[in-house]
Amino acid sequence: MAEKENKRIKIMVIHGPNLNLLGLRDPKHYGNLTLDKLNRLLRKRAAELGVELKIYQFNDEGRIITALQRNRKKVDGVLINPAAYTHYSIAIRDTIELLKIPVVEVHLSNIYAREDFRTHSVIKDFCAAQFYGKKEASYTEALAWLVKHITETRGNQ
Ligand code: DQA
Repeated sequence: MAEKENKRIKIMVIHGPNLNLLGLRDPKHYGNLTLDKLNRLLRKRAAELGVELKIYQFNDEGRIITALQRNRKKVDGVLINPAAYTHYSIAIRDTIELLKIPVVEVHLSNIYAREDFRTHSVIKDFCAAQFYGKKEASYTEALAWLVKHITETRGNQ
């Protein structure tokens, strides 16, 4: 439907716990950007791609779940870095499972090349793609992928 194709794509970005303190965390895994700088980079890429961003950072599980629930019909897709919750939050997994919009899992670090407990993602099964190990480029590549995915899906409707 032409009207739907022309509607500006809205993406929600959720950063999980401790990502508010990027810049203080180990640069070997997480890079040197503060969250503010990372968000500015994401907004710049979003402007280039012509999409709208809603960005949140939460240190607790419940607020992540509430943001996903409340925005489930307001945005076209989600980029989520659940941080440590990636590895054990069945509650966040259950929320992602019920969403009808694409969700992309993002990590700054390479979770597969660190401690064993980080190599398992409980949300992966319900995510459309996973980007990791490229520091801030994990987010920018994930954003570009998600926008392309949404555009192609719309084209097929
Ligand atoms: C992280 C990886 C997680 O294992 C860790 O707990 C984080 C950040 C990442 O972006 O690499 O806080 O999700």
